[in-house]
Amino acid sequence: MAEYNLVSECVGLITLRNPPVNALSAAVRQGIVDTVQRALSDPNVKSVVICGQNGIFCGGADIKEFGSKMTGPPLIPMFHAIESANKPVVAAIEGSALGGGLELALGCHYRIAHSKARLGLPEVTLGLLPAAGGSQRLPRLIGVPAALSLITTGRHVTAAEALQLGIVDQVTDHNTVDAAVKFALSVAGRSLGPRRISAHPCPQQPDLDALFEEVMQKVRQSARGAIAPIACVQAVRAAATLPYAQGMERERELMATLFTSGQARALQYCFFAERAVGRWRMPSGARWDTSKPRPLHKAAVIGLGIMGRGITVALAQTGLSVIAVETQEKQLMEAKQAISGMLERGAKRRGVAPALDRVIYSQNIQAVADVDLVIEAVFEDIALKTKVFQQLSAVCKPGTLLCTNTSALDVDQLASETPNPELVVGMHFFAPAHVMKLLEVVYGPRSSPQAVATAMQLGKKMGKASVAVGNCRGFVGNRMLKPYIEEAFFLLEEGATPELVDQALEEFGFAMGVFRMSDLSGLDVGWRIRKGEGLVEPGTASGRSTRIRQGRRYSPLGDLLCEEGRFGQKTGRGWYQYDKPGSRVARSDPWLHSFLGAYRAQHGLVARRIDHQEVLERCLYALINEGFHILDDGIAAGPEDIDVIYVSGYGWPRHRGGPMFYANMVGLAKVLERLEHYQQLHPEVPHLQPSSLLRKLVASGSPPIHKWGEAIKKLHSQL
Ligand code: COA
Ligand code: NAD
Repeated sequence: MAEYNLVSECVGLITLRNPPVNALSAAVRQGIVDTVQRALSDPNVKSVVICGQNGIFCGGADIKEFGSKMTGPPLIPMFHAIESANKPVVAAIEGSALGGGLELALGCHYRIAHSKARLGLPEVTLGLLPAAGGSQRLPRLIGVPAALSLITTGRHVTAAEALQLGIVDQVTDHNTVDAAVKFALSVAGRSLGPRRISAHPCPQQPDLDALFEEVMQKVRQSARGAIAPIACVQAVRAAATLPYAQGMERERELMATLFTSGQARALQYCFFAERAVGRWRMPSGARWDTSKPRPLHKAAVIGLGIMGRGITVALAQTGLSVIAVETQEKQLMEAKQAISGMLERGAKRRGVAPALDRVIYSQNIQAVADVDLVIEAVFEDIALKTKVFQQLSAVCKPGTLLCTNTSALDVDQLASETPNPELVVGMHFFAPAHVMKLLEVVYGPRSSPQAVATAMQLGKKMGKASVAVGNCRGFVGNRMLKPYIEEAFFLLEEGATPELVDQALEEFGFAMGVFRMSDLSGLDVGWRIRKGEGLVEPGTASGRSTRIRQGRRYSPLGDLLCEEGRFGQKTGRGWYQYDKPGSRVARSDPWLHSFLGAYRAQHGLVARRIDHQEVLERCLYALINEGFHILDDGIAAGPEDIDVIYVSGYGWPRHRGGPMFYANMVGLAKVLERLEHYQQLHPEVPHLQPSSLLRKLVASGSPPIHKWGEAIKKLHSQL
């Protein structure tokens, strides 16, 4: 797993071999120990170069080994052996040097990187810290502020930034191994003392205490309950204030706490879940056929409202030519300006030229005749969308994929209105579409695997977390959100306030509580949907309306606020008040509290004390319960798909793994017991009725999450 060759007569070349990313598995670690020993004891060898095969230096520790008992040589003594070698050791960094990979390079005396390489210590994103000396060596090499910035965020830096920071000694555009060998020859025989990073103190830093205090405050705020970023600050502080050996001891202690924490397990689960959903598969667990995605050069977007604009930007930034169609002249002019602005700002951030000329605007749908893919984003109206799809079928060249960005309409119904339903899929983006990471790719029973594969690959190219889901009302994300929001409304009726509910959810780790989120996205969106479902009754404002509608408990609170013109941030009033329309700072609103009091009195409801635990259990378990229904219905292929959707699109705290992982951590029996408890108290609320899949999983001994797929398959085959 590490190959040794003698090159240029006196350079020992060690090549890590462990596809695909040369992770430091037990076998690779053993290989490094053996080959380093061999190079150091070979009298012909004057210097050593370490590189990785297939254009990647090393993707770090083997994450797959984390759950099992450690075998093979540990990293820390291995890096010490390299650092204390009496011959220069040079790291030749191509592709990535991440985590343990960068720690290995920091153990070397010199580092040469290819200009396209990326370096970083991303352990924090896996709930850990760089615990093979990384937290102690990096601050000594580049100073405390820069090391804190890298270690607490896990961000990757380019070779150019690494050179500027002093992480690497040289950057090359040519063959990195050749450059490193040449370099190794040039430094043979030089004194290595100054090159041993662990022997240095950290560069002097004025006001160290104030710096750490400020960083700790910032990190605590952004961590939203995650413990690893805080441990990272503590480890760097040890590097800045203690001798190396003591710093290493502190690094070890902090790592021991993190390693066994549920958070590290959750974050590592997320890492693999994100990759699993990319290899999209059927709910039965079988892979879809291996049809290759279609190559895409030219795309079209129909409708340049909020969504169409973001989608156009995302497509153009991916390198596609885009025909952007909007029928309303005023909208078209505004969209043109908005899209150009977004492209310019995006290009400035990424240091590239804006792709303005990749977008051609038109008011005529005929302009899309020769595109490979169309994304429709007109108003949410089935008659209008049907008309647009029929026009597209007539205008587009044969084989063009037709995608809809509908948030709730039936993708299969739309497909059935076209002569080629196999070419129709949903591409459900989230607002703003060029920023939000999530994309639900919705397949109907007739969508061809190639159409789904093409949409999935396009999503990946756009940098989205793309998840293939079946066709149902609300798909996965919004379907699960409905019971969550309804429970929050019911809690207000029973005595809670928006502040209390949001605080409980934000302390749990959500980016935003349900009411702040609703104010941000606009209360009128849900109002329009409920009207469409026939749930909004006239006379609501007079208090004459019922609280049981369509046979189930219904809270008209959201409708009442809309009738008052309180649509959230955009109107300056919603569940909270804002200084002016569009302002983002939510302030408690006395009007809302007296409104809730009057509403309760009108309906004979007596407010009771509601605690955080009840908020979490009712909102989250209702959402999780819907997740089990979704798995049972085969709408999501597995729990990973649901979890990736919630973590990447709905602000679920990543360190809690996603709703289904959380249910697994809490224990399925406990989730079931609490749902049964609340269902008894609220029999008129169907979403508190535990799903039959949850019951069956508990009855079969609550298998761990990675075995749910198998268990579901078995349960379905017994039907
Ligand atoms: N340990 C084990 N497996 C790893 C791994 C690691 N450190 N890094 C990547 N892999 C696996 C992935 O799970 C994936 O496996 P799959 O093909 O079975 O799904 C495969 O390698 C390719 O990874 P992927 O992320 O899809 O490839 P990429 O080219 O887009 O990105 C990296 C490559 C190295 C940038 C990326 O994989 C990465 O960031 N890895 C994690 C690095 C890290 O956090 N290291 C610190 C560990 S403590
Ligand atoms: P919007 O009202 O902002 O924009 C719709 C645009 O389509 C308007 O500019 C309108 O003039 C244009 N249009 C109407 N008919 C047209 C036609 N025949 N040809 C070309 N253009 C036409 O709407 P939006 O919020 O961008 O939503 C668009 C779609 O995306 C809807 O299906 C919606 O459900 C879905 N969606 C919206 C969000 C969101 O947060 N806004 C999120 C996900 C999905």
